[in-house]
Amino acid sequence: MSLPSFDIAVLISGSGSNLQALIDQQAALGFRITLVLSNNADAYGLVRAQQAGIATCTINHKDFTTREAFEQAMIQALDAVQPKLIVLAGFMRILTPLFIEHYTNRLVNIHPSLLPKFKGTHTHAQAIAAGEVVHGASVHWVTPELDSGQVIAQASVPVMKEDTPELLAKRVLVVEHQLYPAVVAAIARGLVTPENTPTPPMTLPQLLNKVAA
Ligand code: GRF
Repeated sequence: MSLPSFDIAVLISGSGSNLQALIDQQAALGFRITLVLSNNADAYGLVRAQQAGIATCTINHKDFTTREAFEQAMIQALDAVQPKLIVLAGFMRILTPLFIEHYTNRLVNIHPSLLPKFKGTHTHAQAIAAGEVVHGASVHWVTPELDSGQVIAQASVPVMKEDTPELLAKRVLVVEHQLYPAVVAAIARGLVTPENTPTPPMTLPQLLNKVAA
């Protein structure tokens, strides 16, 4: 007997390389992307989704006079497909409690730093300026305070002497593409819940072991 599918919706604003990693690994890892929603009609991630035969939807925040009205429109589109998890993958709008509380315990984000270090933007430049020798990415539950929900797992990379923010970002993206699908798989299988999220967060090897077991 096959397991019921674990349907997720992915929110993007741009390139969508993390979305691509989720698309490429969904069948093997036991989840299914049923909707890709973008606030930007030109996001390349929409092309990636369409090429994979996944439904897409653009809701442009500029068409709304308030953040809440924009979020209500997104909630309507998302709830129509009843996703079990909402996956923020390079979604570049700050979300209000209206949206976040509607999806309590069903909303995750990937942030390009080893949280709690370097919240907000320009994380790679911040890490280089701070003289870090290790940097990386974190997947966390989303709570109303920006980049502050409990971290589920982290992947790290070395910072090289000759690194620019762009070079470092590329190295971090490689591990993001392993980290995010594996976290979604762990949630899909009930191996990770908001109640049993380990502290400290899992490392990438620990997470991959858990998902492979
Ligand atoms: C990634 O660095 C992710 O950590 C951050 O936004 C970027 C999205 O990249 N939240 P992509 O659109 O998945 O290529």
